Amino acid sequence: MTPDSADAVAPSSQAIDRARALLAEARRVVVFTGAGVSAASGVPTFRGAGGLWRSFRPEELATPEAFARDPRLVWEWYALRRALVAECRPNAAHRAIARWAAAVIARGGSAVVATQNVDGLHQRAAAAAEAEDRIPAAPVLALHGSLFATRCSRCDWRAPEDDRDGAHVAGRPLDLTARETLPRCPRCGGLQRPGVVWFGEALDEGMIGAAYDAAARADACLAVGTSALVHPAAGIATAAARAGAAIVEVNADETPLTARATVSIRGRAAEVVPLVLGA
Ligand code: OAD
Repeated sequence: MTPDSADAVAPSSQAIDRARALLAEARRVVVFTGAGVSAASGVPTFRGAGGLWRSFRPEELATPEAFARDPRLVWEWYALRRALVAECRPNAAHRAIARWAAAVIARGGSAVVATQNVDGLHQRAAAAAEAEDRIPAAPVLALHGSLFATRCSRCDWRAPEDDRDGAHVAGRPLDLTARETLPRCPRCGGLQRPGVVWFGEALDEGMIGAAYDAAARADACLAVGTSALVHPAAGIATAAARAGAAIVEVNADETPLTARATVSIRGRAAEVVPLVLGA
């Protein structure tokens, strides 16, 4: 796709029709999402108005160095985010993506949902759609991990199950009184840490590899609610564009991806995504 083919307009019915036609034809799809897809569920974004990085410094909360310096502060921040997100539900965008991706697979195509979000809302929407429609869900690749997962900061131990609230870590009550009361690895005694990817850390190789493979094969990529600034995830949509896929972007603001998009629609994900997916 050339930059000239971008069609960046307010959500006009023309742009929505064009996006809908491109996506209806697609047989091999990759959906690439960021925080904006969960905004209508009440999950704060990172950048832009009301974004978490407007009020908090990522280097104090979301790096391995920050955890080594003050693990209690980092756990406090993640416990708050866990508690907030535990109250959130998938919105119309998550639901439409889950149904559409499963339908593409059901008619013999391929689909993956690659998300930078750690809120688990795509996975919950996929499970709900699978239970309701009785067709297998498309895989969700959680590129930056999960807010509700816990692992060891020293060895490769991982909690067997995800937590469901902000008050528990690896199934046990979280005691934030002091560094000494923080949860410890049952295997090596190292500090347990949130199962998310922090700045400066590598993504799971298998997962980012699967997302790039899907992008390289895709005939369409739907990018929703991401500033497309954080690499390597941000390269997924551009990899799909390089492979000749049609790029449909749905975002509240322009992003570095806008110029490469076949159709770029300015709007709210929960309103626009169901329209472009014909839900
Ligand atoms: P950002 O907060 O950087 O970007 C969210 C994008 O969604 C912005 O472009 C907003 O304009 C747009 N947006 C906001 N509300 C929207 C809505 N209702 N509908 C559609 N679009 C909306 O979030 P990400 O791109 O996900 O990483 O950020 C990428 C990574 O940076 C995150 O995974 C996180 C963060 O730091 C780590 O913590 C490692």
